[in-house]
Amino acid sequence: MKNILVTGGAGFIGSAFVRYMVETYPEYNIIVLDKMTYAGNIDNLLPVHDEPNYRFEKGDIADEQTVERVFLEHHIDTVVNFAAESHVDRSILNPHAFVQTDVVGVYILLEACRKLGVQRFHHVSTDEVYGSIPKGFFKEGDPLEPNSPYAASKAGGELMVRAYWVTYGLHTTVTRGSNTFGPYQYPEKVAPFFITEAIDNRPLPLYGDGMQVRDWLYVDDHCKAIDVVLHRGEAGEIYNVGGENERHNIDVTKLILQYLGKSESLIKHVADRPGHDRRYALTNDKLRADFDWAPSTHFETALQATVTWYVKNEWWWRKLKSGEYLEYYKKQYAERLANAD
Ligand code: NAD
Ligand code: DAU
Repeated sequence: MKNILVTGGAGFIGSAFVRYMVETYPEYNIIVLDKMTYAGNIDNLLPVHDEPNYRFEKGDIADEQTVERVFLEHHIDTVVNFAAESHVDRSILNPHAFVQTDVVGVYILLEACRKLGVQRFHHVSTDEVYGSIPKGFFKEGDPLEPNSPYAASKAGGELMVRAYWVTYGLHTTVTRGSNTFGPYQYPEKVAPFFITEAIDNRPLPLYGDGMQVRDWLYVDDHCKAIDVVLHRGEAGEIYNVGGENERHNIDVTKLILQYLGKSESLIKHVADRPGHDRRYALTNDKLRADFDWAPSTHFETALQATVTWYVKNEWWWRKLKSGEYLEYYKKQYAERLANAD
């Protein structure tokens, strides 16, 4: 590996991965390709802006000409694909962009690899492709039963990755990460959304009974797992990346309020998300057995540090809560909050 293309590198996890790779591997060139949708944010890359082994290209992974130009100009030999439409609620309101980026975009990247002889492709996927599991833990060989347009699009992209390994012998790997949290996460996902709303003493719209379970993974752990798989993963293989931190949504919400010293009366139970997956849980047995990898972060400590980061970095998130964000907020929450218990 020499010239690594990180698509979606201006988003939450992609930018954490770029910051980590630029620092950890000064011998690699890290090139970001990002369309800069509402979720792409150049501020996330400020810490690496002046590093000699970092470059930025604005562009769409679903645009063949752009992708081929970037591959050729930067002599790309490795692709790590984070680029995606990533928010489940937005996929329910409007699935189109999800199919376009998460399926067609992945295909365009794979095809460019085939055409231009790029040997290594890592795809960042999600535990949501499995669907919901009432008890036990998903393993990599389990069937895919995605339930939201987001999850279905991610499953479609993943299957295309598989086809390029089986049919064309492209050295692909896939990681399926669980719910990731940490600094620089766009304030639509539940953790940064609730933290920033609570700072302003605004209501926290908790879907349904709040007893849904997510497996929380700190962003640094997620990035390190991708690094391990990128360097040591076997061609054609899929690896779960779980946080080993199952929590009910209501409990995560109460912890956030406790860390901010705010009242639980801010919690408003609102109409549920349609098709809401009740529980995600997956085993890290394969990553542990193959590479001795496990998440290393203590959940409560990391959540508290994350809350502190948002408290100290209002410059980063306040300006995001304007324009399109407010339109989305209105569509997603106005009626729900008006009818809240
Ligand atoms: P994000 O929404 O914060 O960032 C996505 C980035 O992709 C943005 O910078 C956006 O501008 C860019 N992008 C979108 N469409 C593009 C296109 N067509 N071409 C180029 N760039 C485009 O997402 P995130 O939370 O950082 O997630 C990154 C990846 O990790 C996604 O593939 C997601 O499915 C996966 N994932 C996320 C989580 C999580 O909890 N956030 C967990 C597991 C897996
Ligand atoms: O599991 C991995 C997935 O985690 C990633 O693939 C997705 O990109 C990422 O968005 C995330 O999906 P979720 O739907 O689990 O995350 P979200 O933050 O939207 O919601 C977490 C839980 O909180 C979920 O059960 C829904 C609930 N929730 C969310 C929001 C935004 C609420 O109760 N109220 C809210 O306003």
